[in-house]
Amino acid sequence: MIHYILTKEELLSKPRRWLITGVAGFIGSNLLEQLLKLNQIVIGLDNFSTGKKANLDEVLNQVLPEQAERFTFINGDIRDLTTCRNCCTNVDIVLHQAALGSVPRSLNDPITSNQVNIDGFLNMIIAARDASVKRFVYAASSSTYGDHPGLPKVEDTIGKPLSPYAVTKYVNELYASVFGLHYGLNSIGLRYFNVFGRRQDPDGAYAAVIPKWFNGLLNSEAIYINGDGETSRDFCYIDNVVQANILAGVTEDQNAVNQVYNIAVGQRTTLNQLFSMIRENVVQASTSKQANENLPIYREQRAGDVRHSLADISKAKSLLGYVPTHTVAQGLEEATEWYVRHANSC
Ligand SMILES: NC(=O)c1ccc[n+]([C@@H]2O[C@H](COP(=O)([O-])OP(=O)(O)OC[C@H]3O[C@@H](n4cnc5c(N)ncnc54)[C@H](O)[C@@H]3O)[C@@H](O)[C@H]2O)c1
Repeated sequence: MIHYILTKEELLSKPRRWLITGVAGFIGSNLLEQLLKLNQIVIGLDNFSTGKKANLDEVLNQVLPEQAERFTFINGDIRDLTTCRNCCTNVDIVLHQAALGSVPRSLNDPITSNQVNIDGFLNMIIAARDASVKRFVYAASSSTYGDHPGLPKVEDTIGKPLSPYAVTKYVNELYASVFGLHYGLNSIGLRYFNVFGRRQDPDGAYAAVIPKWFNGLLNSEAIYINGDGETSRDFCYIDNVVQANILAGVTEDQNAVNQVYNIAVGQRTTLNQLFSMIRENVVQASTSKQANENLPIYREQRAGDVRHSLADISKAKSLLGYVPTHTVAQGLEEATEWYVRHANSC
């Protein structure tokens, strides 16, 4: 999976100091894994609100002992400015992933989403500015396209946000832009489109659809599809997202900086198609064939969800050199292996 990085080998030839916020989460722990494997020095911050110590343990068990020693973990909260300042000391590149995800969560509790995703973001960007970090890369979101009907989504054309979560992610972009303008902060926002892969949490009320369906099929549970199943998304495998973060962290092209980018595959998959693909993978990979008989139950469309989403990824391709290594099918195949192993070990 790292052939794209090897072409950027010279950029990573000397170890840099990276800070990953949200390091115990799905995306953060995958960033950690790849950076340690590339012999980088990593500081990780998390408060374990949705992240898990097991994710960190899994990563540290998969890297060499000398690579694991280059990792320092700080248990803390981005809502505390002093913590953010401590974490940013002597850091070259920040990959800011910590946030409360999920549209329904933000509808149920907009205050906490605002505190973490906006106040916490502001703390982090102030700390990064004052520590003179070279690059501040942050997790933006496709939810920023809101009610704009155009497809594929192009970075400059957005609509009105459809949820508190989308508001918070858009405010992040606004702050990053203003900090570039007034304080010379070098930032890059990555608008992720429905990311999936190993270590994405299948449990809890706010779990994303792919891990939830893997778990449901592996445990012969009922699977629900919101709406008629023809809702579509540009599902993006985690390795593509890791690639984008590393490219954004190390690019020396000033035209590429202080921009936001769509990070996806540029491939649209309906929920009905997705369900069939996951079920096929589960049936092939697990000993139980019961998954074949598991038919989805259709229920009401969820509030705040957009009908279709598809990214134009040409900007990330041309300015960052981003080339997705995994289609949805390839990503699902790799993810299956992890979910089957995980289900067997529970
Ligand atoms: N997964 C996706 O499809 C997707 C899509 C668009 C954007 N994003 C964004 O990507 C980022 C990572 O998402 P993820 O899917 O890995 O979610 P996740 O929930 O697995 O990871 C988020 C991490 O942030 C930590 N965190 C939350 N609040 C914190 C706080 N106050 N202080 C310190 N740490 C805190 C959590 O404990 C968790 O480990 C988020 O910013 C999310 O909004 C994700």
